[in-house]
Amino acid sequence: MTRVFSGVKPTGHLTLGNYLGAIRRWAAVDQHRSDALFCVVDLHALTVDHDPARVRRLSRQGASLLLAAGLDPELCTVFVQSHVDEHARLSYVLECVATDGEMRRMIQYKEKAARERERGGSVRLSLLTYPVLMAADILAYGTDEVPVGDDQTQHVELARDLAVRFNQRYGHTFVVPRATSPALAARVMNLQEPASKMGKSDDVGPGIVYLLDEPDAVRKKVMRAVTDSGRDVVYDRAERPGLANLLEILAACTGGDPAELADGYDSYGALKKDTAEAVVEVLRPVRERHQELCADPGYVEGVLREGAEKARAMARPTVDAAYRAIGLLPPT
Ligand code: TYM
Repeated sequence: MTRVFSGVKPTGHLTLGNYLGAIRRWAAVDQHRSDALFCVVDLHALTVDHDPARVRRLSRQGASLLLAAGLDPELCTVFVQSHVDEHARLSYVLECVATDGEMRRMIQYKEKAARERERGGSVRLSLLTYPVLMAADILAYGTDEVPVGDDQTQHVELARDLAVRFNQRYGHTFVVPRATSPALAARVMNLQEPASKMGKSDDVGPGIVYLLDEPDAVRKKVMRAVTDSGRDVVYDRAERPGLANLLEILAACTGGDPAELADGYDSYGALKKDTAEAVVEVLRPVRERHQELCADPGYVEGVLREGAEKARAMARPTVDAAYRAIGLLPPT
């Protein structure tokens, strides 16, 4: 059976981008057709300036939102990265096959490091090695497919490269994974800055729809979305990015096609209104289920405990094999 692995980082509240680009598909498709693991990757949240209490809170909330979004622990494994030592164990070994040049070429590293420096802060070493830890997340489980939004494809490519290199040097140990992205909404853009991705830790809050936003807040954000000059409604990503973003969000929420939807509108206002309602409807069941889960924290804890046990058992043989293959003496 196809092995699927993916994760979300608890660096901020989950957004519509995370949902449409990744989580929704994990729940609707991946968990049904594959042997899947979904992880709250908390170690990754320590790579930038962080507040320990907030990371803990967001990790718990992230796990609960994954379940609220429809991940079913009977069908897949849901767990927290730091509960399974194998990720960090494997990461070190993969650092011994990765190069510093490869790390410095990563787009997200370049962008985030530049942002940290602009703020006058220092860049944590773990920000540079982040993609290796991500490769370890993926390779530890013999993953075939990694369902992600567009922004993660370069990282998954690196995981592929490291798997191939390790296998060539030290003997076949890892499955070579591949990224899969949704046809629509693989990159949901910020509603206020349609040239930038809607990211959970961005500063442009009014342009970000969070999964737990109240319906009225969602409506307000969508109605105030920046659109482009021009009056007709056409789907043109290059020339009319603000409009294209709205059309893609509407299409992803209603199952339509952005270009065909554009034909049905002659005003921005009507498009925004329908998009706002479509988003509210898509998020409604997630918010409601999340509220139920908040009332039952023991359930979420139990899911994470069992998930970590299952994940550990799945990862250990591969990580042990990698340790042996690279020349480490097994314990007696
Ligand atoms: P993260 O937490 O930034 O995002 C989680 C998932 O949501 C997708 N995504 C988006 N999709 C469309 N439009 C957007 N605006 C948008 N923003 C986020 C991301 O592509 C991702 O699929 N490095 C990863 C977490 C990670 C991981 C892994 C993923 C760590 N280890 C192993 C897969 C496998 C990250 O920061 O995702």
